[in-house]
Formats: sequence, C-alpha cells, structure tokens
Amino acid sequence: MERVTMNGKTAVIAVLSGALVAFAAEAQFTKVGDAIDYRQGAFSIMSHHFTLISRALKGEIAFDAAEVTANANLVATMAKLPWGAFPVGSDAGSHAKPEIWKNPVKFKQLQDQLVSQTEKLAALAKEGDRAAIKAAFGDTAKTCKECHDSFRSKHE
Ligand code: HEC
Repeated sequence: MERVTMNGKTAVIAVLSGALVAFAAEAQFTKVGDAIDYRQGAFSIMSHHFTLISRALKGEIAFDAAEVTANANLVATMAKLPWGAFPVGSDAGSHAKPEIWKNPVKFKQLQDQLVSQTEKLAALAKEGDRAAIKAAFGDTAKTCKECHDSFRSKHE
C-alpha cells in the first residue's frame, strides 16, 4: 500500500482517504459493525478521561490542574463523536437499546446536554476552581446515568 514516490493515482487516493477521515464524525460507515466499534471506542476513551478527572477530584491521584484540563478537553471532544454512529436499528450486537430509535428526541436532547456540560467542564477546568469543577463533573455524570438508564442495556 505505502509507496515512497507518489504518482497521480496515489495522490488521488491519499486525498480521498483524507476526506474519509474528515467525514468520520458524520457517520460514513459502510458496515454496521464499524459504527458500533466507533461509538463504543469513543465512549470508552471518553470514560477513561472522565474517570481520571473523578480520581483527581477524590484525591486518589494528584490534582494537577493542567492534567485535569487536558482530560476535560478530551472528554469534551469525545462527547461529540458517538452520535453520528447510531445507524437505525444498530442495537443488535451492542448495548444500545431499540428505544434510541423510538425516542430520538430524548436521545438527542441528552446528547446535546452532554456536549454542553462537557464544554462547560473543560472551560471550568481551565479556570482551575476545584469546587466549580466538581459541581460540573457531578452534573455531567448525572447525564451519563440518565442516558444509560433509558438507552443502554445492562452489561451481563
Ligand atoms: C445520550 C446518551 C448517552 C450519554 C449522555 C452517555 N452515554 Fe455512554 N453509552 C450510551 C449508549 C447507547 C451506549 C451503548 C453503545 C453500544 O453498546 O454500542 C453507551 C456506552 C458507554 C460505555 C461502554 C462502551 C463500550 O466499550 O461498550 C461507556 C464506558 C460509556 N457509555 C460511558 C459514558 C460516560 C462516562 C458518559 C458521560 C460522561 C456517557 N457514557 C454518556 C449512551 C450515552
């Protein structure tokens, strides 16, 4: 696949694959399984960085303002990604519930809530006020739970 010299054809392919990367957030998936992998990957990375903020707030790891800010920025970025990867009926083989497509308004409302709360969390992390960060973290965590309670099936 990789070629050292680039002729016209490989240049076109390079440009096209760049376009695919740019469109990834808009759910250009050819296979349902790819969409499921994508959204689960986004959730799991988001969750990893969200948990690191929690541990810093609880004092389980050092509260380093720069680290907390970096983690909050990643959470805010990842929070935008899963939503383009829920093609209709892609519950099978995942923990997504069919309710997602029965109640799209509520599902979308919780996504928007998560996006705005994680942006707020990132902005507060930058300001460094630990109490404010803690409050925003708590609000965000409630949204995670609210959506999971309605739209995610329990892990066996
Ligand atoms: C708008 C709804 C919604 C919100 C808000 C939401 N999630 Fe989820 N989450 C889901 C759904 C649906 C799944 C199941 C996805 C699947 O199995 O394909 C999921 C799956 C996950 C998973 C499992 C991923 C995997 O590897 O299978 C983790 C971890 C997770 N969410 C963490 C979070 C955290 C942390 C937050 C808040 C910061 C959050 N989620 C907010 C809907 C949501």
